[in-house]
Amino acid sequence: WIEYTSQPYAIKNFYKGYTAAHLSSGGVGDLPTDTSIDLAANAETQGLKHYANHKNIRLIYIIVEVGYRIVANKASGITKLADLKGKKVRTFRGSSAEVFMDKMLASVGVPRNASTHVSGSVCMKAPCASGTYPQLLASKQIDAFGLWEPIVELGLKAIGENAAIFQNFSIYREVYSLYSTTEKLGNTKTRKDIVAFAKALKQTSDVYVNKPELVYQYVAGLSGMDASVVQDVWPDHRWGNGTMPDDLLEFLVEEDAYLAKMDKRVGVSRADLAKFIDTSVL
Ligand SMILES: *[C@@H]1O[C@H](CO)[C@@H](O)[C@H](O)[C@H]1NC(C)=O
Ligand SMILES: *[C@@H]1O[C@H](CO)[C@@H](O)[C@H](O)[C@H]1NC(C)=O
Ligand SMILES: *[C@@H]1O[C@H](CO)[C@@H](O)[C@H](O)[C@H]1NC(C)=O
Repeated sequence: WIEYTSQPYAIKNFYKGYTAAHLSSGGVGDLPTDTSIDLAANAETQGLKHYANHKNIRLIYIIVEVGYRIVANKASGITKLADLKGKKVRTFRGSSAEVFMDKMLASVGVPRNASTHVSGSVCMKAPCASGTYPQLLASKQIDAFGLWEPIVELGLKAIGENAAIFQNFSIYREVYSLYSTTEKLGNTKTRKDIVAFAKALKQTSDVYVNKPELVYQYVAGLSGMDASVVQDVWPDHRWGNGTMPDDLLEFLVEEDAYLAKMDKRVGVSRADLAKFIDTSVL
């Protein structure tokens, strides 16, 4: 995904820790089980799901906040968000995109069960194969879908002027974050490396925000996209500037209550969610 690319960029161009940094595929769920992992990046949704059972995880840095979008086919009679009621709408089950879809629909009084939620396949570059979200939309097998980029952009391009787009950053944005554990943060040497890595991410962010034309091709190459499509969706990505948003705790409290219901578990207390956010590295 686009979100992860600032990590290899930071390692290649800016990171100056004591220990060399290596990136491997995985996520926040690996932190409690594999102690060779110092850091992990994931959406806040996955962070919260794992924090519920592993209170030693810490959210220490916000890499990027992304305003997800829904693309709908006007030919299916959809011109406003509430028109999604009763339509075939897809997203990725159990992901941050599902949280996004539910919150968007709830904001216009459409209950979660009023539209279908079935996972399709992702597509990073046109032409999109059979069974992928953009192809399902273009062939009218579904009426709309909500997801991260570039899949929504490819759906939009696939149906052209029939596309209706819905987005609302104040209702939901992905908070793609960097995580570690209290054990790693408590180790003096590891902590210095973690601080160096966060610093490198901030330097990367400065490039991503101020000179994006230098990285469109780089990001496209890493994520298997076309550079022009990276450029088209760039404005939906707010790269972290080394601060935590004021509403972060409130946002996590609300989302955890929702996830607890979905996952049929006990919610995490506000006091524990406050501990999940660790600004000491910043
Ligand atoms: C959808 O959920 C609402 C509220 O949770 C419930 O009242 C309604 O019966 C459900 N509808 C269907 C078709 O399951
Ligand atoms: C986004 O959502 C907020 C809160 O529901 C609402 O006040 C605002 O009008 C919405 N913005 C758009 C562009 O729909
Ligand atoms: C950093 O980003 C946040 C959230 O987008 C914003 O509110 C804040 O003003 C920014 N701070 C600086 C120094 O740019």
